[in-house]
Amino acid sequence: MSEAVSYENHGPIAILSINNPPVNALGLAVRQGLKAGIERAESDNHALVVLIIASGRTFPAGADIREFGKPPVNPSLPDVVRRIEACSKPVIAALHGTALGGGFEVALAAHYRIADKTARIGLPEVNLGILPGAGGTQRTTRIAGAKATLDLATGGKPIGADKAKALGLIDVISGDDLKDAAIAYAHELIASNAAPRPSGARSEGLLNAAENTKAINDTAGIIAKRARGQFAPFRIVECVDAALTLPIEDGLAFEREQFLKCMETPQRQGMIHAFFAERSCTKTPEASRAAPRPLNQIAVIGGGTMGAGITVAALNAGLPVVMVERDTESIARGQANVEKVYDAMVKKGRMDAATKAKRMALYTPATDYAAMSDSDLIIEAVFENIEVKQDVFRQLDQTAKPGAVLATNTSYLDVDAIANVTSRPQDVIGLHFFSPANIMKLLEIVVPSNPADDAVATGFALAKKLKKTPVRAANHDGFIGNRIYKAYGLCATYMMEDGASPYAIDKAIYDFGYPIGIFQVHDLAGMDISWANRKRLAANRNPAERYSAVQDKLCEAGHFGQKTGRGMYVYPEGMRMGEENPDVLQVISEEQARLGISPRDFTADDIMRRYMAAMVNEGAKVLQEGVALRPSDIDVVALYGYGFPRYRGGPMKYADMYGLDNLLADLREFEAEDAHFWKPAQLLVDLVANGRSFEDLNKDS
Ligand code: 3HC
Ligand code: NAI
Repeated sequence: MSEAVSYENHGPIAILSINNPPVNALGLAVRQGLKAGIERAESDNHALVVLIIASGRTFPAGADIREFGKPPVNPSLPDVVRRIEACSKPVIAALHGTALGGGFEVALAAHYRIADKTARIGLPEVNLGILPGAGGTQRTTRIAGAKATLDLATGGKPIGADKAKALGLIDVISGDDLKDAAIAYAHELIASNAAPRPSGARSEGLLNAAENTKAINDTAGIIAKRARGQFAPFRIVECVDAALTLPIEDGLAFEREQFLKCMETPQRQGMIHAFFAERSCTKTPEASRAAPRPLNQIAVIGGGTMGAGITVAALNAGLPVVMVERDTESIARGQANVEKVYDAMVKKGRMDAATKAKRMALYTPATDYAAMSDSDLIIEAVFENIEVKQDVFRQLDQTAKPGAVLATNTSYLDVDAIANVTSRPQDVIGLHFFSPANIMKLLEIVVPSNPADDAVATGFALAKKLKKTPVRAANHDGFIGNRIYKAYGLCATYMMEDGASPYAIDKAIYDFGYPIGIFQVHDLAGMDISWANRKRLAANRNPAERYSAVQDKLCEAGHFGQKTGRGMYVYPEGMRMGEENPDVLQVISEEQARLGISPRDFTADDIMRRYMAAMVNEGAKVLQEGVALRPSDIDVVALYGYGFPRYRGGPMKYADMYGLDNLLADLREFEAEDAHFWKPAQLLVDLVANGRSFEDLNKDS
């Protein structure tokens, strides 16, 4: 037997125990071990029943994702699953932790399933751009019907043991000791002379044809919207449909065929890249050197858009929050901003009044800095003005307890200039949340010149508590996200001035997979904000930088976006998605005339080539300056903060797949139009010269 699967005789029970930390992924050694274990149990005269169980934190959480894209090595998972199902003796799977994907498929191959109360089962393959490839869609449908299978496999979210039992996917829920309970269950099966019960031969789930057909149609409609542009979800629907109509062997073959098609897509590469990227972003030099400081109570200064959102995020995580505002009127408004979020949830039925009360019980409003004297972490979210922020930090220096981490939520300002007004710059970091802060997953942890390692580690610990995805950024104007956003925003504006209609640009971006186009984002965020920022930076603008005044002109005429009912789009009463604004086209043509630009045509491909080249080139500069630790961190920022389509992995992954040499060639071509804007990052030039990729840099980091 392999070390990954041990074999033990426990009276009449052959126990196969999987041991492949951390998540018992079904790598080659586990597959070999399971197959060998079943064969041995079959010829073992002492064994009447086989029990498959796992040690450590979980029943297998799936196939070993690291093997994907490499040449397959036998036995394949479908072969192993087939072998288990065909076992001549009853096989029980005992589940704990997260029995996901291939792990759940192994469980389905067993004839009986027992799980502990906290176990979760699921088919999350869709999140990796693939589908269950070892019978998951076929066997689940046969037991639990089309709706349950489609929910599991197209939604990708696991369900708890209770729900799984109600669906017939689990037979027994155990008490605290799963192994004892599984052994007792095995004895029951022996006593009742239970025979093997292959899931593939079951049919309860197929009985209600009308309900199954409805589930197929409903899901097809849902994913047409939710999974726009993706490949795998549509194949999953076809697989479940096949389960309803084909004999099991044909259904399994069809599912395998679709699985292999998914494996060949760039979407699979993109999504698996995203999976590993969001795990590596927590690996930072500071975290490797220091543990976080205690984090039992936080404070937020400012109860505006961001302060209220951050407060809700913390209250939802069970963290007590002191909110401090300027005066009684402002704190009343701050509290109302927090309550507004909960009231909306209560109104929509997503929260009950008692839960709101429980959350609000953790909230303390205040106008005095003394109220924060017990806070372990204080997040400043006041106006984006350096003097105002410095004044807040001077006061915090006087009043915060020693060792408290002091954080600013600034979008662009210099965190050192804020830290250095205190006598404790080592305690100061940036925590750049995204709006709405109670929803958006990204949290940039900004590391100024000399913070203490444990202050930075505390920022990461906060992210974990709030279930946010943290990315480390050095202290640079716009950090990672806003800096890159600014670059491709400029690119879009230039294209608009050169002849691409903003609506064609937005459509190309939408068709690429973004939820909305960049000009729709401008309208949502308020064009006045970026207008103010441009005015702030005007004095120091590089004269070589091309400047488009189209949006300034629109702002001067009151086109601020959704808040004024007109921006790049117009929003007739009650409309969320705008319509084209003729004034915009007018201003663009006036500017073209003023600047002597002859408008030219841009295809969607022209637009996206430029858009992506601008994004990746700025990403490369962010890397070469050390603002981001690794390319995949930039991908995480784009995915979690800026709506980049996950199935493309992120801009740096996109660039690797597009070919860095192709991207550099695009930049060289565009350089002829505007040498300043399109100058290729030296890092990119070097990578191409050395035949290296961003993925190579990820591996180096
Ligand atoms: N293969 C390889 N490595 C895996 C893995 C897998 N299936 N699942 C997790 N890991 C690794 C992670 O990369 C991480 O590695 P690191 O420590 O080096 O960063 C380590 O295991 C621990 O993972 P997490 O940090 O994510 O631990 P959590 O406790 O937060 O979460 C989990 C555990 C819920 C199991 C989560 O890891 C997860 O969702 N894993 C993926 C599950 C999945 O997608 N399964 C389906 C795989 S595809 C499949 O089965 C195909 C089949 O149908 C043929
Ligand atoms: P806002 O204007 O909605 O709220 C600011 C709040 O700070 C107001 O309620 C004001 O009363 C309060 N305030 C001002 N001075 C104060 C002081 N001295 N003491 C206590 N409270 C004070 O602003 P918003 O949008 O919440 O932004 C706050 C910070 O977050 C800014 O630095 C901004 O750049 C940053 N940010 C904003 C994002 C956004 O999308 N709005 C996104 C990410 C960061």
